[in-house]
Amino acid sequence: MRIKKILSPEWGQEKIAISGWVRTKRGSKNVSFIALNDGSTINNIQIVAEGSVFSEELLKQITTGSCISVEGNLVPSKGSGQDKEVLAAKIVVLGIADVDEYPLQPKKHSLDFLREKAHLRFRTNTFSATFRLRHTLTFAVHKFFNDRGFFNIHTPIITSVDAEGAGEMFKVTNLDLENLPKNPAGKVEFSKDFFGTKTHLTVSGQLEAELGALALGKVYTFGPTFRAENSNTSRHLSEFWMIEPEVAFSDLEKNMDLAEEFLKYCIKYCMEKNADDLKFLNKRFSDEENSIKKENRLEMGLIERLEFVLENDFVRLTYTEAIDILRNSNHNKKKKFNYLIDGFGAELQSEHERYLVEKKFKKPVIITDYPKDIKAFYMRVNEDNKTVRAMDILFPTIGEIVGGSQREERLDKLEARIEEMGVCKNELWWYLETRKFGTCEHAGFGLGFERLMMFVTGMKNIRDVIPFPRTPQNAEF
Ligand code: 4AD
Ligand code: MG
Repeated sequence: MRIKKILSPEWGQEKIAISGWVRTKRGSKNVSFIALNDGSTINNIQIVAEGSVFSEELLKQITTGSCISVEGNLVPSKGSGQDKEVLAAKIVVLGIADVDEYPLQPKKHSLDFLREKAHLRFRTNTFSATFRLRHTLTFAVHKFFNDRGFFNIHTPIITSVDAEGAGEMFKVTNLDLENLPKNPAGKVEFSKDFFGTKTHLTVSGQLEAELGALALGKVYTFGPTFRAENSNTSRHLSEFWMIEPEVAFSDLEKNMDLAEEFLKYCIKYCMEKNADDLKFLNKRFSDEENSIKKENRLEMGLIERLEFVLENDFVRLTYTEAIDILRNSNHNKKKKFNYLIDGFGAELQSEHERYLVEKKFKKPVIITDYPKDIKAFYMRVNEDNKTVRAMDILFPTIGEIVGGSQREERLDKLEARIEEMGVCKNELWWYLETRKFGTCEHAGFGLGFERLMMFVTGMKNIRDVIPFPRTPQNAEF
């Protein structure tokens, strides 16, 4: 039996048996009150253990962090704070937790401290709520696409192509690094490597997803992606999960509609399914806000912000319009940006994205039609031959949460872009063949799963929404 079910109004059985981890124990010689949690819900169940039933020796072993199983009767609670409690008839201590060594004491620990205890942090309210939400969000993703006739495809994790052309990849090899095979020119002989060629961990499943879409119509991937960029920020992971839908007979407008509907669906699904967890995280979020200076506080609470996103259309504007707004902003004039905007061609930094979302529009924003020079080779070139059919979705506090585009389906234009960007054409022969054999308009996007997790949970560091974060200089656990 699990505590979530037992605490629900529908539960009708008196005799119960549960197992879980002790959060706190208080009381006297005559009676102990144990708050037990089994991970099924944020709520603990209160166990009442009477001194006349249990030996002092057994009760002494029940401390914060210990694991016990309990049999007893579910009765209306005499105390305040809970409707029901368990009058214990039998308790077995499955695993003790040394009081002096167990690091999670019943008090507030910092997130930095808990990151170092990633093996135990699941047992805190904050992280159990977060990781239950992570499950729900995963489920929402699959449900959304399944209900709309998409097929999930598994794209390779080890690959020989650089899908984003950004070159920030982790190498995969089984060559002896102390004794590398070299060719006469002194270069490493990758034909001697495991796969007979240079390989790395994928940065995106998009190129393979496109192959799927151009046969199955609508597909999506949901897998781990790896980026070796040395970005030690609160929004970057070296290993993160990305959802990439790809749709045939779709253009940029339909792509934006799909992304907006998808994001709203996932948020709503979490609000419906994990209301208790979100209530807890909402309070945590407000407490945190109240502990900082008034002028730095956000305008909305966590749940309020989620509702706000559900109720409002995302603002859509072109890159050129965004640049005009930024260049003419007081922020730019007063040199408050670290990177000042002088005109077309500038990369949007997260400070600019956040200005547009949080100060200017106060809504999620979709920016389209970026200059081709700052975007990947596969994006469809516009008539102006200067911009591409790209779209980035920007969220409050997060910045970029989705990146996508209508793809270049015209073989000649695609080849020209590959040439122009200096991308290795030989490796992409199979990608190019789809443009030769029955090509069609198609579009897709990539959602950074952890970025959406940050938005839904209100957690401010991306390391706290994935169980075991991988970041520069850190691969523990
Ligand atoms: O904008 P990106 O690089 O787009 C692609 O990879 C395309 N192939 C997607 C597509 O069109 N199918 O990455 C997509 C999203 C970003 O918007 C961001 O949310 C997330 O992935 N992302 C990261 N999340 C965490 N850590 C990182 N280092 C990330 N890099 C990108
Ligand atoms: Mg991007």
